[in-house]
Amino acid sequence: MEKLVIEGGRPLSGAIKIHGAKNAALPILAACIMASGTHTLHNVPNLLDIEVMLQILRALGCKADRQGETVNVHSSKANSSYIPEELMGQMRSSIFLMGPLLARFGSVTVYQPGGCAIGERKIDLHLRGLEALGAKIEEKGNMIVCTADVLTGTEIVLDFPSVGATENIMMAAVKAEGVTTIFNAAREPEIQDLQNFLNTMGADIIGAGTDTITIRGVKTLAPSEYNIIPDRIVAGTILVAAAATRGTITLERVNPSHLTSVIHVLRRAGVQILVNDDIIHVSCPTRPKAVERIVTSPHPSFPTDLQSQIMVLLSLADGLSIIKETIFEGRFKHVDELSRMGADIRVDLNSAFIRGVPRLYGATVEATDLRAGAALVIAGLAAHGTTIVEQVHHIDRGYDRIEHMLSRLGAVIYRHTPVPSE
Ligand code: EPZ
Repeated sequence: MEKLVIEGGRPLSGAIKIHGAKNAALPILAACIMASGTHTLHNVPNLLDIEVMLQILRALGCKADRQGETVNVHSSKANSSYIPEELMGQMRSSIFLMGPLLARFGSVTVYQPGGCAIGERKIDLHLRGLEALGAKIEEKGNMIVCTADVLTGTEIVLDFPSVGATENIMMAAVKAEGVTTIFNAAREPEIQDLQNFLNTMGADIIGAGTDTITIRGVKTLAPSEYNIIPDRIVAGTILVAAAATRGTITLERVNPSHLTSVIHVLRRAGVQILVNDDIIHVSCPTRPKAVERIVTSPHPSFPTDLQSQIMVLLSLADGLSIIKETIFEGRFKHVDELSRMGADIRVDLNSAFIRGVPRLYGATVEATDLRAGAALVIAGLAAHGTTIVEQVHHIDRGYDRIEHMLSRLGAVIYRHTPVPSE
């Protein structure tokens, strides 16, 4: 198994460009199937999850190719609405194809994506939304067959502002008859990016980024050329890494307005942050301060996808901090690993009580999921001695070769690939 080996204790320095957003690129790639022809997407990150999405599109009859950060999807010959279970099992986000395939073919067959390390991850809101648009849903064991001769616009109130359900319903409603309004919609920047992409294809959507989205059904769509937004979670991860190592760096090709709550929390921890257009300067010359209380919530509040990373910074802060995780019930798996590096963290239900310690110590630790893995890399950069992070494949799902990004900022980090006899 590949491992990341990190020599800690060095402040990060220099500048780095942030790659495209995984959580925008995935639904946008899925949406390419809605319009027949060649779509050209720029700033598409080179990630395991993106590769799986391209494999799924190919399994549906599309052609897809990549030149650097540009991906072309040729969807004219798409001829299937059945997503193989094997591919569904590799990535939950394959569920994003339900809306697009219903819109294009009037049918889709998927498999229950099931839970993952961070929680149960139900899809009931997706199914109820598609049903409200007139789709017939049949569940046969693990298989879900969804059909609709015609989709009809309606009003949908989400019980919870689910990102995935908002995106799936929005895509299914694009070619529905009449007007659909989604109330209590998720407001993440990735949903705005999806709306903007769909509108470049000829859709008629307004309101993404607010809690009410209105989709006026259209008859035809055309292929599009589009630029994916920068990844705010990757940007947030690098900001925290700089602070935890007491470094001074510059992030380029980033959208600071997507990180307002994160920048606010970092400033409360005493981190110096300067924002300028698509650039963020960060510096943390002194020991961070504790932050009394952070609650993860839907956007624009503090993102759950940066909870584990900020916990590393607070584990080195002066004083007691509390983090409450309200989105996923199993998102504290990194706590045991951080404790093995010397952190002082106690978990009670969905709250973590973090008493800052002067330093962390290198250890061999295991990534249990994508963001927990990123947090352990940050802990290794800040720690004294050598840290070995195992199960790196989790991290590759969302970071384009994280060791290269961090080496460019002066970190001593490399990927150990075992030779066959090892
Ligand atoms: C998206 O997941 C992101 N993934 C996640 O990022 C992110 O953590 C999450 O939104 C929240 O911000 C992508 O965009 C690909 P949700 P999604 O539907 O759409 C419950 C990462 O690290 N729920 O908003 O799956 C669900 O169980 C990943 O990049 C239902 O109960 O998130 C969860 O507790 C991890 N029924 C909560 O809502 C439903 O039908 C939030 O889920 C749908 C969701």
